[in-house]
Amino acid sequence: MRIFLIGFMGSGKTHWGRQLSQKLSIPFFDLDEQVVNSEGHSINEIFEIFGEEYFRLKEKGTLHIISESHSSFVMACGGGTPCYFNNIEYMNQSGTTVWINTPVQILFKRLLKEKNHRPLLRGLTDQQLMSFITKKLGDRKIYYEQATIIIDDEEISLDHFIEEIFHA
Ligand code: S3P
Repeated sequence: MRIFLIGFMGSGKTHWGRQLSQKLSIPFFDLDEQVVNSEGHSINEIFEIFGEEYFRLKEKGTLHIISESHSSFVMACGGGTPCYFNNIEYMNQSGTTVWINTPVQILFKRLLKEKNHRPLLRGLTDQQLMSFITKKLGDRKIYYEQATIIIDDEEISLDHFIEEIFHA
């Protein structure tokens, strides 16, 4: 059982991923954290030193390495993971994808507090942040919507995840 949690930055992929993995007694992987460990640089540093294209290649490579070496896990993907290369098809073929669908207003509130830790959001004013989330989420929806399961933020709970995953 391979479960890939996808969704925008701030949608709670890591939070729910950890809980889900504990409940299912299977390993948890945070894709960003794995890239950071193998590169020896933070995500901000990778973007700054090597650029986004390099990060996307490493992200894809790490996704493949983990998926091909483990048959069971919960993975919290990065917000952009399903939107590059054929990553969404790859994840759908390898396991179950779950999109945490969070409204723009909630994402905005959460990301306001932590925007400086994220390379794509650094230095944005509040208004620019709101426009960025609205535009980017609009662009990315076509990828997120390809998920096997969609969980809306209002109905999110561990039991709901389990119910949906076992009925997929
Ligand atoms: C990104 C999301 C981040 C991280 C990188 C790029 C994106 O992951 O992979 O900063 O393109 O949305 P989280 O969604 O875990 O913050």
